[in-house]
Amino acid sequence: MEFFDLVKKRRSVRKYKVQPVDKEDILKILEAANWAPSAMNWQPWEFIVVSGELLKPLANSFKAVVEKIMYESETFDDEFVKFAAHYGGAPVVIVVLTGASEKSNVRKANLESTSAAMENLVLAATNLGLGTCWMTGPLHDENNLRSILDISPDKEIVAVTPLGYPDEVPEPRPRLDADLKQKVRWLGY
Ligand SMILES: Cc1cc2nc3c(=O)[nH]c(=O)nc-3n(C[C@H](O)[C@H](O)[C@H](O)COP(=O)(O)O)c2cc1C
Repeated sequence: MEFFDLVKKRRSVRKYKVQPVDKEDILKILEAANWAPSAMNWQPWEFIVVSGELLKPLANSFKAVVEKIMYESETFDDEFVKFAAHYGGAPVVIVVLTGASEKSNVRKANLESTSAAMENLVLAATNLGLGTCWMTGPLHDENNLRSILDISPDKEIVAVTPLGYPDEVPEPRPRLDADLKQKVRWLGY
């Protein structure tokens, strides 16, 4: 797909078909992620690809997070709870990690580099007709996630995304300042 079309076609997908995703396609997507630029060329990202039985405790954890947030904010969104309860029915969930650091500059570099990898991941998935939803919400239950997935303290969890064939075509979310009149300052033009 043409690059600019691809960028605009990517949506956060919250409803998936049961159709499995070929391991080769997952590898292609992760290879694209692995080609991201990184500070000091540390390439500090790692991926945990989850499918099968482990999806249940993962989704239970996310559902509890969503219910707690909704309870606290006194809002209720049935559709969102349904999404959380099964990660939208996605057959795969990818958890993206980076190296943890107490040094703020190293932590920032690792988070930025791994976010670049994450963006490559979601775009590559779109290019293969697959859906993703970049999420940090599940990290509200981080300790539980760490224990379910056996993530060591020297790793920081950056994001989680379901991966699968979309069972919905979400409307594009309008862009703030779409004509970039306020977000861009042109100097020397
Ligand atoms: C850092 C980050 C964290 C996000 N966390 C969540 C999340 O916890 N739950 C969720 O449903 N979507 C999450 N999203 C997706 C955004 O809601 C979504 O990107 C935004 O509404 C724009 O929609 P679009 O991705 O379809 O363009 C997150 C996106 C980013 C980049």
